[in-house]
Amino acid sequence: MAKIARFRRNRYASVIVLFFALGIVSLGFSGVNNLVSPAVARIASEETLVDKGSALFAEGCSSCHGLNGQGTSDGPTLASVGAASVHFQVSTGRMPMAAPGAQVERKKPSYNEEETLALAAYVATFGPGPAIPSVEQVNEWINASVSEGGELYRTNCAQCHNFAGSGGALTNGKYAPSLALATPLQIYEAMITGPQSMPIFSEETLTPESKAAIIRYIQELNKSENPGGLALGRLGPVAEGLFLWTIGLGALVIVAIWVGARVR
Ligand code: HEC
Ligand code: HEC
Repeated sequence: MAKIARFRRNRYASVIVLFFALGIVSLGFSGVNNLVSPAVARIASEETLVDKGSALFAEGCSSCHGLNGQGTSDGPTLASVGAASVHFQVSTGRMPMAAPGAQVERKKPSYNEEETLALAAYVATFGPGPAIPSVEQVNEWINASVSEGGELYRTNCAQCHNFAGSGGALTNGKYAPSLALATPLQIYEAMITGPQSMPIFSEETLTPESKAAIIRYIQELNKSENPGGLALGRLGPVAEGLFLWTIGLGALVIVAIWVGARVR
C-alpha cells in the first residue's frame, strides 16, 4: 500500500497511467477490427444463419427482389446468383440499392458481416451459384507472384479499371470503379460473380492461382499509390485518427503538467 501511495504521489504517475489507458484503448480498437469477421463466421451455425437471413431479406430486399427472390419490376431475380454475389453486393454497400441509376454505387454497408453472411446463406437456398470463397482460397494471394499478377491484370482488368487501378468511364454513363477500397475477398468475389458490366472470370479463364496473383498485384498497386493519409500499416482512417489522437493528446497533457510544475 505504501508503495502504491508513493507511486501515486510521483509526478509522472498520472502521465504513465494515462498512456497505459490510451494504449489499451487503441490495442482494443485494432484487435476488434481484425478479429470480428472470422470469429463471427465460425460461431453462427448454418441453420440459424438461413433463418436470420430469411427475416432480413423479407424486410430489406423483398420489395425489389420478391419474397422468394423471384424478381419484380424493381429488381432482377436472385434465383441462381449464389452467396458470393450477395456478399459482394451487400458488403460493398451496393445493396440494398438506394436510388435507381446507371450504376449502383459503392457505399457504407447497411449490414454488418454476420447479417451479410445470413443474407448470403438465405439467397443460396434459392438455387446453385458461386459460393463465398474460403479464407484459405482468398489468402493464397499472400504468397502469389506480383509480376505474374501484373501481367494478368494488364490483360484482363486494365482496359476497364485502368493501369493504376483507379477506374475509368465505360459507355452509357457507367464506369469501372477504383480498386483502392476493395478487400481481397471482394476482389475475388467480383471476379467470380461479374457485377453489372464486368465479365465473369470462370476457373477456365483464370485459375485460382491466377486470381490470387491478380489480387496480390492489386494490393501492390494500392500500396505504392498510397491515396493520402499516413501509411501506418494502412489500418484505415479509424486507426490513423486514433493514433494521432493518442499521441497528440498525450503530448498536450505532458506539456500541461510541465507548465503546471514550473509555475509552482
Ligand atoms: C430498391 C430496389 C432494391 C433493393 C431494396 C435491393 N435490391 Fe438488389 N438489386 C436491385 C437492382 C435494380 C439490381 C440490378 C442492379 C445492377 O447490377 O444493375 C440488383 C442486384 C442485386 C444483386 C446482383 C444480382 C446479379 O444478377 O448479379 C444481388 C445479389 C442483390 N441485388 C441482392 C440484394 C439484397 C441481398 C438486398 C437486400 C439487402 C437487395 N438486393 C436489395 C434492386 C434492389
Ligand atoms: C468490361 C469492363 C471490366 C473488366 C474487364 C473488369 N471489370 Fe471489374 N468492374 C467493372 C464494373 C463496371 C464494375 C462495377 C460493377 C457495379 O458497380 O455493379 C466493376 C467492379 C469491380 C470491383 C468492385 C470494386 C469495389 O470497390 O466495389 C472489383 C474488385 C473489380 N471490379 C475487380 C476486377 C478485376 C480483378 C478484373 C480483372 C480480372 C476486372 N475487375 C475486370 C468492369 C470491369
